Amino acid sequence: MPIGIVEREASIVVCSTCRVDKENRETHDGQRGGELLFEALRRGSAERGTDVPVAIQKMPCLFACARFCTIHLRAPGKVGYVMGDFRADDESVDAILTFFEAYRESEEGIVPFRDWPEGVKGHFITRMPPEGGVLI
Ligand code: FES
Repeated sequence: MPIGIVEREASIVVCSTCRVDKENRETHDGQRGGELLFEALRRGSAERGTDVPVAIQKMPCLFACARFCTIHLRAPGKVGYVMGDFRADDESVDAILTFFEAYRESEEGIVPFRDWPEGVKGHFITRMPPEGGVLI
């Protein structure tokens, strides 16, 4: 599978192949839940109209399939996160974008718990060290 090159910047990578729900991988017209979340995030981000646009990318399978829909937050020099149990709805979109804005503003990618929107609590799967570094 080839690797598509993207800008090295704070971004949200959405798993494009996550299921729609427990019973269905796709909608009746063939869309995966992850694709729907990707589109919902792009719409939500455009509606918010933040000063700095949010980079939202997608790729197939983040290997956390049981926690569909999943996303990965990443930024150069910061810890990254894989998060899951999201849906392509306003609640998930709002929580992800709110947390992402705080993540992007943070120095090391660590957002104080008091600033976490309710909709991300319990959604973290892993925290990854930044490329070339570790938290100490
Ligand atoms: S299909 Fe989304 S994490 Fe595997």
